Amino acid sequence: MKIAVLGSGQVGQSLARGYTRHGHDVVIGTRKSEVEGLPVATPDLAVADADLVVLGVAGRASVELAGSLAHLLDGKVLVDATNPLDFSGGFPPTLSVCNTDSVGEQLQREFPEARVVKTLNTVNAVVMTDPGLLAGGDHHLFVSGNDPDAKSRVKELLSEWFGWRNVIDLGDITTARGTEMYLPLWLRLMSVNGPAFNIKVVVE
Ligand SMILES: NC(=O)c1ccc[n+]([C@@H]2O[C@H](COP(=O)([O-])OP(=O)(O)OC[C@H]3O[C@@H](n4cnc5c(N)ncnc54)[C@H](OP(=O)(O)O)[C@@H]3O)[C@@H](O)[C@H]2O)c1
Repeated sequence: MKIAVLGSGQVGQSLARGYTRHGHDVVIGTRKSEVEGLPVATPDLAVADADLVVLGVAGRASVELAGSLAHLLDGKVLVDATNPLDFSGGFPPTLSVCNTDSVGEQLQREFPEARVVKTLNTVNAVVMTDPGLLAGGDHHLFVSGNDPDAKSRVKELLSEWFGWRNVIDLGDITTARGTEMYLPLWLRLMSVNGPAFNIKVVVE
C-alpha cells in the first residue's frame, strides 16, 4: 500500500517509520527538502500517488494544507491524527476549535469527497506505533468518521500495522469533538505522568 504522511514532526516521522517497518511504501509530504532516513516529496506529489493519506501536521495548518490538495483527496481515506492546539498564549495550549466543531469535521466539510477518519490523536507519537509499550496493549484508541467502510479499513490497518486490539468506533465525524476535547486533560496528565500513557475504557 502506498501511504503519504503529511508532516515531518514527531508524529509524521513516527508513523512513517512504523509503516516502513511493516513493508509499506511511504513518503513524507513536507515543505522540507530532507528528513533523515525517510523519502520525502512535496505534499501534492506525495498525495497524488497514495492509496491512503495520513495528516500529521500542526492543527492550525491542517485545513489549509488539505485545501491545497483538495482535488487529490477525492475518494481517498484521509486519516486525521491532528489536534487543534493553539500555543499562541503559551503552555498549556488552548483549543482553536471546540464544543460545536472539530478539525475532523472541518476537513470533512471542506473535502466532502474525502473519507475522513479521525484517530490516533489521543496518544503520544511513540505509543501510536507501539501500543504494546503500555500494559501489553490493553488500552483503547478511537475512530470517528462518516464512512463505515473507511473506519473498518482503518481499524483493520491499525491492528495489522501496529497491533491495536481495542479500537472503539465513536460514530460519525462529529464525535471527533470528544477526542479533540480530551486534549486539555491529556496535557495535564502528561505534566504528571510524562507522555507515554493512555486511556483504558472499563465497562460493567
Ligand atoms: N506529538 C505527539 O505526540 C502528538 C500526538 C497526537 C497528536 N498529535 C498531533 O499531530 C500533529 C503533528 O504533531 P507533531 O508533534 O508531529 O508536530 P507539530 O509541531 O504539531 O507539527 C509539525 C508539522 O506541522 C507542519 N506544519 C506546521 N505549520 C504548517 C503550515 N503553515 N503549513 C503546512 N504544514 C505546517 C510541519 O510540516 P513540514 O513537514 O512541512 O514542516 C510539521 O511537520 C499535531 O496536530 C498534533 O497536535 C501529536
